[in-house]
Amino acid sequence: MAHENLFRAAGVIGWPVAHSRSPRLHGYWLARHGIAGAYLPLPVRPDRIEAALRGLAALGFAGANVTVPHKQAALALADHPDALARRIGAVNLIVVREDGSLEGRNTDAAGFLDSLRAGCPSWRAADGPAVVLGAGGAARAVVAALSDAGVPAICLLNRTRAHAETLAASLGGPVAVLDWGRWAAALDGAALLVNTTVLGMAGQAPLAIDLAALPRAAVVCDIVYVPLETPLLAAARARGNPVVDGLGMLLHQAVPAFKAWFGVRPEVTAEVRALIAATL
Ligand code: ATR
Repeated sequence: MAHENLFRAAGVIGWPVAHSRSPRLHGYWLARHGIAGAYLPLPVRPDRIEAALRGLAALGFAGANVTVPHKQAALALADHPDALARRIGAVNLIVVREDGSLEGRNTDAAGFLDSLRAGCPSWRAADGPAVVLGAGGAARAVVAALSDAGVPAICLLNRTRAHAETLAASLGGPVAVLDWGRWAAALDGAALLVNTTVLGMAGQAPLAIDLAALPRAAVVCDIVYVPLETPLLAAARARGNPVVDGLGMLLHQAVPAFKAWFGVRPEVTAEVRALIAATL
């Protein structure tokens, strides 16, 4: 190893980034595992993303997470984007190689699936069709994850139908697009419902969806985590559906990143979950 010392640095590159919970999360794991390292919030303006990414190697950073609005730019700038990141069209994890070149990966898809499996261990991809609401960056990761996990059919609904069509065409897989509002047609017989839109987030309108047609056994996931229990999850819970909140995805997407930089696979425990939940 060509490192000057054993201290390892990483961080999260975003704009804005002050609200990010990742420094607290990685800081907890660093302390928990007795690793000499640091994980910093790295505010980077959109016009400085290339300089910032190139600077990681110069500064001796192990790598960085990349968040809004830089995930697409990071894909374009990474020297070695992996196949999944290219498919999703976004990089959220940069790993600096010893030669200073940058690997670009996406851990959002695995983070979503690991969160779903941890939150609802009985869920199986083969249980039946999934319904995904939204067609932004998060939806791309969720649809890729479900498709790769072997979910037999994915029904995609988005306010702007054209965005859903574009997502379906570029990702492929068993994805069918339905008009926003066709809740009964989408939910009838579904085994999983995932909200990837901003609806239900603090400061946004709630997601106004009629769950009547959704089987009671279907798992309902929200990737919104402020608040932890969105109106969608509250409604689903009230009618008896198993629910998985959005904090799990945030925690689980961080696991492979920490492993890549610091060499240890950390655990998403109840304790770390409570620590981060207390900041929401
Ligand atoms: P992210 O990268 O987090 O997924 P995004 O790319 O901005 O964020 O995507 C936001 C998603 O929320 C989109 O699917 C968006 O729908 P449009 O494609 O029609 O813009 C959805 N969304 C945002 N505001 C909405 C609203 N008021 N009603 C329904 N969907 C909304």
